[in-house]
Amino acid sequence: MNQIIIKNQMKTLWDPSIPVLSNLCNLTALLHDELEHLNWVGFYFVDIEQNCCFLGPFQGRLACTRIPIGQGVVGTCAARKKSMNIPDVHAFPGHIACDSASNSEFVAPVFKNDALFAVLDVDSDQFGRFGPEEESIFLEAAALISGHLSNAK
Ligand code: SME
Repeated sequence: MNQIIIKNQMKTLWDPSIPVLSNLCNLTALLHDELEHLNWVGFYFVDIEQNCCFLGPFQGRLACTRIPIGQGVVGTCAARKKSMNIPDVHAFPGHIACDSASNSEFVAPVFKNDALFAVLDVDSDQFGRFGPEEESIFLEAAALISGHLSNAK
């Protein structure tokens, strides 16, 4: 499916009358279904007080439940508050291999107003799976969520 359709689906799927968590669950299902060679897609919720990222809604195999900020791909994203495209996770120092099938990974921060809320984490069994088209989808997903979170009471 092309990126325009996926982006439109992401927008129409979001229902502000249900909890954010419910929307995030369906968003992971949408990305997992529509993009090929994703073996894991989900969110880690950031808890600044505990200096940790905790497992949120996802599609894929069992995953690490807590990742300290600054560790692994997810924790590094949380520390830097920047998206990262990792074409070969085995070359990333400190990569945490939750699923041994993963070979490339993309992470993007999700903000609530100015505070870091979560990390969107996407894994593929293919090396270098994520190009500009996928990056654009994931960044739009993160921006969409941030927009809704910032509007939420
Ligand atoms: N690979 C991640 C861990 C999370 S799993 O990919 C779901 C990392 O290095 O932080």
